Amino acid sequence: MAENASNTLTIRDNRTGKEYEVDVLEGDTIRAMDLRQIKVRDEDFGMMSFDPAYTNTASTSSTVTFIDGGKGILRYRGYPIEQLAERSNFLEVAYLILKGELPTGDELDEFVHHVTYHTYVHENVVHLFDSFRYDAHAMGMMISAVSALSTFYPEAKDVRDPSNRWIQMVRLVAKMPTLAAFAYRHHRGLPKVYPENELSYTANFLNMLFRIGVKEYRPNPVLERALDVLFILHADHEQNCSATTMRVIGSAEADPYCSLAGAMGALYGPLHGGANEAVLRMLHRIGDVKNVPAFIEGVKNREERLMGFGHRVYKAYDPRASIIKRTADEVFEVTGRNPLLDIALELEKIALNEDFFVSRNLYPNVDFYSGLIYQALGFPVEMFPVLFAIPRTVGWLAQWEEMLEDKEQKIARPRQVYVGEDARDFVSVEDRG
Ligand code: SDX
Repeated sequence: MAENASNTLTIRDNRTGKEYEVDVLEGDTIRAMDLRQIKVRDEDFGMMSFDPAYTNTASTSSTVTFIDGGKGILRYRGYPIEQLAERSNFLEVAYLILKGELPTGDELDEFVHHVTYHTYVHENVVHLFDSFRYDAHAMGMMISAVSALSTFYPEAKDVRDPSNRWIQMVRLVAKMPTLAAFAYRHHRGLPKVYPENELSYTANFLNMLFRIGVKEYRPNPVLERALDVLFILHADHEQNCSATTMRVIGSAEADPYCSLAGAMGALYGPLHGGANEAVLRMLHRIGDVKNVPAFIEGVKNREERLMGFGHRVYKAYDPRASIIKRTADEVFEVTGRNPLLDIALELEKIALNEDFFVSRNLYPNVDFYSGLIYQALGFPVEMFPVLFAIPRTVGWLAQWEEMLEDKEQKIARPRQVYVGEDARDFVSVEDRG
């Protein structure tokens, strides 16, 4: 900053010749409300910022997750994602994201105990899945089941009570794998397998999914660890579309179950968490490495979108994609190589050297390789967004609680610029053209 410079902006309104001084805040921002003083006539509403899709708007301050999109940096509560993926486990990272600090041994044991003993759902919720068609998409079933949980815990509406919030948060972290497994078992026409408390969070999930009959199921430890790492990588990602949805619904003081069902709806979209499913469908459609150049031409001609590529924030390689790519190699050692990997690697190789992608900063994101692992683990593509929603439940809840505790926040209600018809009189149907 220049010597003797003030940390303000001077805005000159050339329509009136007036000048306004506004403070520059943390993160190189100005308070949008400081623009409202800029008027031509005293009776004017005052100036607003216009920002469709909030591409340049900070909706909140936050201490949960830091991303540097230019450098490909991702940290949860200050800890680099690479260190957490290497040295931690999902429930420990969940505690970090929810509480803000890594737990002591006792704190972690208590948290794991609470989560473990909240994995069951009311039997009526189990029967809810029977009402769906066999081919119902797992995300549709999950969104219904999560919002149904709000009817079993009406006290969750008291969102201003921290101890009540914590009980609901533990329930959601604990029950998401159970609901997901029930959705999968319904889809497969298999009987539900209930939680087993002596298993780890991820092993219990795999057991509820894949155990057949009374034969004891114990997942391969490499696969169990790979899924745990994937859960760590998907736990939070600051103000993405679904986290923003969670915050907006939660700002009306809706209960966390209904807020989270809304966030899941946003995640389900193929431009967001539904991209991992869309990537697999894209790779299947390409079918063979020899078809990759033609597909890339289709992308350049805007006939196709390269799913799993690009990101609103990362203008470099998504750090999660690098870790997932390494994890994929470990999984394929056990499950055998997924033939679609060759197509994915060829797509990446071409895209990273084509000006169309390089000039638009399009790199693989978290969804490009994750689906290959999920498929190798035996999941159908309809489960892929569900595998994103389970860990992201932690991030959504952390963002939700931070919003409720933030004294600057209130019910979200953006403005608009009206460009429709001016006032006009009603015309009876007989007189209409
Ligand atoms: C996630 O926000 C998060 O943090 C999300 C997430 C999280 O953890 O929560 O990281 C998870 O959602 C990852 C993203 C998954 N989605 C996809 O992989 C779907 C494919 N990617 C895109 O549709 C797109 O890249 C987005 C949605 C991810 C980002 O879109 P932006 O930031 O709005 O960028 P844009 O659409 O304005 O694209 C800029 C240019 C455009 O070209 P021009 O019109 O300017 O010439 O890049 C092009 C786009 O057409 N482009 C693509 C492309 N992504 C952008 N062209 C081809 N293939 C793509 N994938």
